[in-house]
Amino acid sequence: MNRLLHTPEGVRDIYDGEYRKKLTVIDQMNQVLDGRGYIPIQTPTFEYFDIFSREIGTTPSKDLYKFFDREGNTLVLRPDFTPAIARTAAKYFTNVGGTIRLTYNGNVFINNSSYQGRLKENTQLGAELIGDNSIDSDSEMIEMLIKSLQASGLTNFQISIGHSDVFRGLMDAAGFDEEAEGNIRDLINNKNSFGLEEYISSQNLSDDLTELFGLLSSMYASPKEWEQYRKKADGYPVIAKALDYLCQLDEKLMECKVNSFVSYELGLISNYTYYTGIIFSGYAFGTGEPIAKGGRYDKLLSYFGKDAAAIGFAISVDDLMEALNSQAVDTKTSDGVRYLTIALGKGRLADKAMAYFEKIGLPCEEMKDKNTRKLIFVNEEKKVRFFLAKGPDVPTYVEYGAADIGIVGEDTILEEARNIFEVLDLGFGKCRMCVCGPQSAKPLLENQELIRVATKYPKIAKDYFYNKKHQTVEIIKLNGSIELAPIVGLSEVICDIVETGSTLRENGLVVLEEVCDLSARMVVNQVSMKMENERITEIIRALKKVTEE
Ligand code: PRP
Repeated sequence: MNRLLHTPEGVRDIYDGEYRKKLTVIDQMNQVLDGRGYIPIQTPTFEYFDIFSREIGTTPSKDLYKFFDREGNTLVLRPDFTPAIARTAAKYFTNVGGTIRLTYNGNVFINNSSYQGRLKENTQLGAELIGDNSIDSDSEMIEMLIKSLQASGLTNFQISIGHSDVFRGLMDAAGFDEEAEGNIRDLINNKNSFGLEEYISSQNLSDDLTELFGLLSSMYASPKEWEQYRKKADGYPVIAKALDYLCQLDEKLMECKVNSFVSYELGLISNYTYYTGIIFSGYAFGTGEPIAKGGRYDKLLSYFGKDAAAIGFAISVDDLMEALNSQAVDTKTSDGVRYLTIALGKGRLADKAMAYFEKIGLPCEEMKDKNTRKLIFVNEEKKVRFFLAKGPDVPTYVEYGAADIGIVGEDTILEEARNIFEVLDLGFGKCRMCVCGPQSAKPLLENQELIRVATKYPKIAKDYFYNKKHQTVEIIKLNGSIELAPIVGLSEVICDIVETGSTLRENGLVVLEEVCDLSARMVVNQVSMKMENERITEIIRALKKVTEE
């Protein structure tokens, strides 16, 4: 009976006050779009798989809800509206030479990983402008996005704008292959600018090109701030053109008086590969996910037989509702400055991390009292708050924005796989993730036998055995003292952290294979990185300096 009363994981009922508020927010935004002549359109909740396939460049197949119709065709619950709108534009507006303005709202479905608190069904409201490749249509879209968010009642948000040709131009100029591009994407997605710098300087590129890669690391309040790079781009026309385009766009946005909501992020790259020009994301406190996304996609309609330029945006209404709720909670201090909150993983890392913060002028005396029962420790002068949390919880606090910054081991970051920026390797807490066991277990690994692996890190273990070694194993999740498992016969091997190696030695076990090196990292909430860019960048730079000492 109980099973009949609750919804499956990742979907939920909303009713009365909350639902009324959601409907009002949608209505307020619809009025903006309606006032600009956008025609409402409704497309089906499910489509043929091909509409959202890899060639189109949308959500990865594993994250789609797929099923079959009676004829055996694969169908998909839409994960995103844009390809469906492109299909309808190609179908119903084939002979229209001018522009088409369409608006939609409805639910999208993404089969996210479990237990991360992300909804699998989200309401999106969006607009698409088809048949116009002018800069005016780009500024129209961004201005309209800002006006729609304002109409919902949101006051504190930022739209980050980038251009897909900056990244593309850099990759082509450097002649990087798919693997190198993947490495760079990872570094950029994690906002790991020092990692990127290190990687690029090891690639033997020209000085100009090496410097141009620096464009991908910063946020810019206006194009003036990247002027120094512009001259270096003279020899790279694709990059130069994209930079000049963003300058012109900035002027247009200035005319519309929406500049204060805009910043530029040249390292903005989307998982949707159909974008061909500007790309943008909207951020606000209260949710770890962008509240809006969009960009230009001039090639997408040709998949459906219509050659037309297009640009669009989608607002995630559920994330917007969270941002609106959090806006009601005042997190500012008496003098109007917002506290920056830092979460530290309890134990070995926390003491070392506090020593680092002390060195960069962010000490916290309260925390030194070992007998205190306090949970939050404040440095009132610097407007910084610290708290201690269990290691695996740190990425969770940071993803949700309950902490702006976290200090945690790389093992935890890999295992939790949260949407956070990993910005700096702090260099302490060095250890290795290894497969260990008695020496006698070595042949079991070499012969790819079906063995049991005990671990606190099932995700890392699975990724290592399945994706790297292609060995089928049975993974047993334990919560501590992992070394016990092979000794008492629960598993053949373990996948665990080795620091000094003494736990292994004292128990007659050895390292059989190495999975990866680990150390403490600084992680940052995606929204905080945009909204508190100056304060956080200063902390990253200062900590980097300490690690070099
Ligand atoms: C970690 C790890 C190993 C040990 C390795 O355990 O899981 O057991 O440290 O360190 P060593 O190489 O210096 O001996 P932790 O102390 O965190 O406790 P747990 O086993 O209960 O998780």
